[in-house]
Amino acid sequence: MKHPLTTLLALVAGLAAAATATAQKFEGLALTPPMGWNTWNTFASNIHEELIMATADAMVANGMRDAGYVYIVLDDTWSALERDADGNLQAHPEKFPSGMKALGDYLHERGFKFGIYGCAGRKTCAGYPGSWGHEFQDARKFAEWGVDYLKYDWCHTDTADPRDAYLRMRDALYAAGRPIVFSICEWGQSRPWEWAADVGHLWRTTGDITDCYDCVQRWERGWKVILDLQYSLVQPHDGQNNGIGRYAGPGHWNDPDMLEVGNEGLTLAESRAHFSMWCILAAPLMAGNDVTKATPEVLAILTDPEAIAIDQDPLGKQGWRFRAETGREIWVRELAGGDWAVALLNTGDEPARLSVDFSHMWFIEGERRIRDIWKKRDAGTTAQPFTDVIEPHGVALLRLMRP
Ligand code: GLA
Repeated sequence: MKHPLTTLLALVAGLAAAATATAQKFEGLALTPPMGWNTWNTFASNIHEELIMATADAMVANGMRDAGYVYIVLDDTWSALERDADGNLQAHPEKFPSGMKALGDYLHERGFKFGIYGCAGRKTCAGYPGSWGHEFQDARKFAEWGVDYLKYDWCHTDTADPRDAYLRMRDALYAAGRPIVFSICEWGQSRPWEWAADVGHLWRTTGDITDCYDCVQRWERGWKVILDLQYSLVQPHDGQNNGIGRYAGPGHWNDPDMLEVGNEGLTLAESRAHFSMWCILAAPLMAGNDVTKATPEVLAILTDPEAIAIDQDPLGKQGWRFRAETGREIWVRELAGGDWAVALLNTGDEPARLSVDFSHMWFIEGERRIRDIWKKRDAGTTAQPFTDVIEPHGVALLRLMRP
């Protein structure tokens, strides 16, 4: 006969296993960084169902869906200002009169996935109902509507602990049973890279982006400022292990915020460099422009298959800054199969002839062929330095390939 203590221990172990089995996130949903489009950067609260449907139609016609941008995410202000009599979230009656289920169906029928925004606090950042105390009810409603992606914000949270709040919503999503990518948006305040790999599939690392190169507004920053911030978040910087890159990988990504590519505060060169750097960072690629009006030049950036292949590289290793000097930065990213990506950034305000000398890159063994991704040409081998004239705040994005 078993000793009663053995039986008790087995029971406790069984209960613990059962608890772990229910408290987990959906695995395998974001093995590469999620790609899609989000309403916020261009439209803020001016959203409605015709805009979402027109955007989806445009993304089919202009090749964005087929390039990988499948998550269409409604950010803040999609809901009614009040919950219904049963406490359920409901669609804003004027903006989304057909309701969320119908909109989700429209997107699914066209090969997209449906993303929505929520907030851990009592209210969202724009003052709409938050999920505080309604987590399980809201997760069930999202699942019922066919939601595939939840961005979950952090306004009006009083003294709540982010770990508790995001764990609670993760468990609610898991209990609702529909696989949903969980996007944590607490702006890096509690260092989510240290605790969120088992909670969400991506986590914001900083405050909000805006469409400039390096401006700083009260809460919003240009992409270069965010790039530097994300780089410096964790000390010490020891070669390949610098910044917070080591915390990212398949299923759990650092999120330096959505793209401003194509928005009016950026030159075309700045948009191209912003996109290139987000690919080096293994960042989620959430377009934030009006895709119904995107120019061919902007679409060429967003849909470039060679740049996207760097972002979506299956090894899932985030890149890092190899050199930073006045007027020039060099970033590198290890790719699957022994390839490397290199970005040569002109941080100066004038066009400049810049070089990369690969003989300094001790971590790359053997010679590689160089592919210049934006110029669409082969550019010799790593036996010679690469040199080109680069526009102000522009970039050369290279793929170093095995011969
Ligand atoms: C916060 C988020 C933004 C956006 C707004 C919406 O600022 O960081 O990305 O979702 O809220 O109100």
